[in-house]
Amino acid sequence: MKLQDRVAIVTGAAQGIGKAVADKLAAEGAKVVAVDVNGEGAERTAEGVDGTAVQADISKPEDVQRMVDETVSRHGKVDVLANVAAIVPFTAWDDVTFDDWRRIMSVNLDGLFLTMKAVEKPMRAAGYGRIVNVTSNVILAGTPNLAHYVASKGGVWAFTRAAARELGKYGITVNSVAPGLTATEGVMASPHAEAFEFVQMLQCIPRRGEATDIAPSVAFLASEEAGWVTGQLLVADAGMTHN
Ligand SMILES: NC(=O)c1ccc[n+]([C@@H]2O[C@H](COP(=O)([O-])OP(=O)(O)OC[C@H]3O[C@@H](n4cnc5c(N)ncnc54)[C@H](O)[C@@H]3O)[C@@H](O)[C@H]2O)c1
Repeated sequence: MKLQDRVAIVTGAAQGIGKAVADKLAAEGAKVVAVDVNGEGAERTAEGVDGTAVQADISKPEDVQRMVDETVSRHGKVDVLANVAAIVPFTAWDDVTFDDWRRIMSVNLDGLFLTMKAVEKPMRAAGYGRIVNVTSNVILAGTPNLAHYVASKGGVWAFTRAAARELGKYGITVNSVAPGLTATEGVMASPHAEAFEFVQMLQCIPRRGEATDIAPSVAFLASEEAGWVTGQLLVADAGMTHN
């Protein structure tokens, strides 16, 4: 098992890709702290993996600090941070307001800054850390109806590269995983669900992406054996953007 005795915080763990990541990291031996603004969902995921749950909004500094404090007081350390939580909108460009823009940035980018700053202290003290930030293949495709989201996810990727440069000397790696369109609760409840047929025509592997297709890429980058890999983008999209 790749993550035996490792302690892993997974944000956005109540459903979708975050839940699949929590399940996979636990299957690889990690003690999982399932974090979500949806506290009941986080509890359900935690119960399923014999882990613990923290209800937290990653855009709030006090919530994020509590998330790390509770993890360290319960488990003694933080080895892995998997940043999966995000808001995935569907808004025509003409309708995107500055408030929409700020809301997306506050979760998708501020949340990353806050969580990474907060785990950095225990990771640096231990001389070990694995941070995996989920971005999206829309940063390569420039997908419509998502301009503010695409901008935030481009920021996730650029920030990942910069943080890898800053934190490598402390034994901390920072990488990104870019999923393609994936059937999650969030996507299936939105107009994105109508895009599967079209997207499958662009993929090398012509079937619908599931959350369990994404989790193994996160697990690899979260593992000790990925220690020589940092500042990288691992695109998990069935080859849609491979050219
Ligand atoms: N599903 C896709 O097609 C797809 C494609 C590319 C990238 N992604 C990325 O994968 C990740 C997960 O996507 P998904 O489809 O599973 O999403 P989802 O909407 O199904 O789940 C997102 C989870 O994040 C939680 N969350 C939202 N805001 C939060 C906050 N402020 N604090 C804490 N938790 C919060 C939600 O409660 C929810 O449980 C996101 O980063 C998304 O951008 C998804």
